[in-house]
Amino acid sequence: MTNRTNELNWREVWEEIQKQKMRPLKIEYDPKFRAKFADDYSEMAKYNDYEYGRKAEEVLSEILDNDFEVLEIGTGPGTLTIPLAKNVKKVVAVESSETAVKYLRKNMKESRVENVEIMNKNWMDVDDREIKDRFDLAVCSHFLWQVKDLEKHLMKMENSSNYCAVIQPAGRDSMVKEMWTKITGEGYGGQFDPDADYFAYPILREWGRLVNVRIVNYSVERNFEQEMRYIASFIGKYVVVDAHVKEIIEQYVSGKGLHNEKRSAVVMWWRIPV
Ligand SMILES: C[S@@+](CC[C@H](N)C(=O)[O-])C[C@H]1O[C@@H](n2cnc3c(N)ncnc32)[C@H](O)[C@@H]1O
Repeated sequence: MTNRTNELNWREVWEEIQKQKMRPLKIEYDPKFRAKFADDYSEMAKYNDYEYGRKAEEVLSEILDNDFEVLEIGTGPGTLTIPLAKNVKKVVAVESSETAVKYLRKNMKESRVENVEIMNKNWMDVDDREIKDRFDLAVCSHFLWQVKDLEKHLMKMENSSNYCAVIQPAGRDSMVKEMWTKITGEGYGGQFDPDADYFAYPILREWGRLVNVRIVNYSVERNFEQEMRYIASFIGKYVVVDAHVKEIIEQYVSGKGLHNEKRSAVVMWWRIPV
């Protein structure tokens, strides 16, 4: 039998896009950019009482149970972790960044969430024997581009649980796209689109998984400084954001007040056959 996902040859495309997404950031205008951006990211995660995480959790409530033990990979500041932990027995959070873990702890404390066990390590270094069939659900949110080998990641998730879920934001803000054209003079070619769910789908179908797919709508708000850094965090992967580029972004963002972004995300979940 021929392997249909091989025929699609998505692996080469994945490798190429993944490499681009993981480009190092080139920000020269502020040495404290990373620390400030980590703070912005946490604020965005918490916007409207964790709207993104709450809505994703609502979709997963189709399968969630109060008794569930959940493995979450790449938790960041707790975008999904916090709303999830409020509805299950325990979450084991695998997160490699110390800064993200610091925010996760802070946000747990703020939300009085105590049932999260943090594993501050690289997901790929987690021993498969240690997590085999240990969980009811393995989930990752906005994480897919972080992995080089998508099949290995999905297999590793499946090895640990009865159910799996992948949540991925869809599309990018028009501000970011417009800035791209303003700065580079080129038409936007999807460089910053977070959508990666469509790579997971053919793999899972090839494995015979029946994948449930739902869309959630949510919003995020950023002030002037946060919007500046948000745009720079994308553009800076392709163009050095120095004082001059910063000024171009600033001029564009200024006078627009609080930026409220309407967003959507794709929530996919499936049961692993026994
Ligand atoms: C884009 S953020 C998403 C955070 C959060 N899940 C959300 O939905 O907002 C990706 C997170 O995955 C973490 N990460 C990346 N590669 C990882 C790995 N190999 N193991 C564990 N965490 C990882 C990063 O440090 C970052 O916090």
